[in-house]
Amino acid sequence: DNPPEGLMPTNKPTKTKSLLRDIVKAGRVTKLVNGCRDVLVLYHQGQLHAMDMRCYHSGGALQYGDIEEFNGRMCIVCPWHKYKITLAEGEGLYQAVDDPTAKPLRTHWCSKGVKQRIHKVTEVNGDVFVTLNNSSETIESDVYQTEKYRTMEANR
Ligand code: FES
Repeated sequence: DNPPEGLMPTNKPTKTKSLLRDIVKAGRVTKLVNGCRDVLVLYHQGQLHAMDMRCYHSGGALQYGDIEEFNGRMCIVCPWHKYKITLAEGEGLYQAVDDPTAKPLRTHWCSKGVKQRIHKVTEVNGDVFVTLNNSSETIESDVYQTEKYRTMEANR
């Protein structure tokens, strides 16, 4: 038997259940998974995605971000400072200037690497399950997954 939600060890993948129709209707939901991780679940163009809810840059509320394509990659745009995060990998994308002296300026897209922790999301018979990505490497968005930020939001 599983212990009650919230008491599960945090180092094991855990599933949380949501109904697909609710996510499709809303486009996005936020969930506290396993009592320890705030996760944003998105439904976009027929696909589900899950990632840490607060932006790796400064804790911005990604659930209010627009979804746009940049350089052929679907991203969520943080509403706070417009950082772009790929939905599939959690990579931070930015535009680099080729030659700062050239006019007009020409830019190209670059990746900062994985900055936002992406979680696994699956759908079975209309139920949606999130399995936390518990890889031991530190990812920048981890910083905003503490009780401190949860409490700050609750008090807003
Ligand atoms: Fe997301 Fe700054 S907090 S871009």
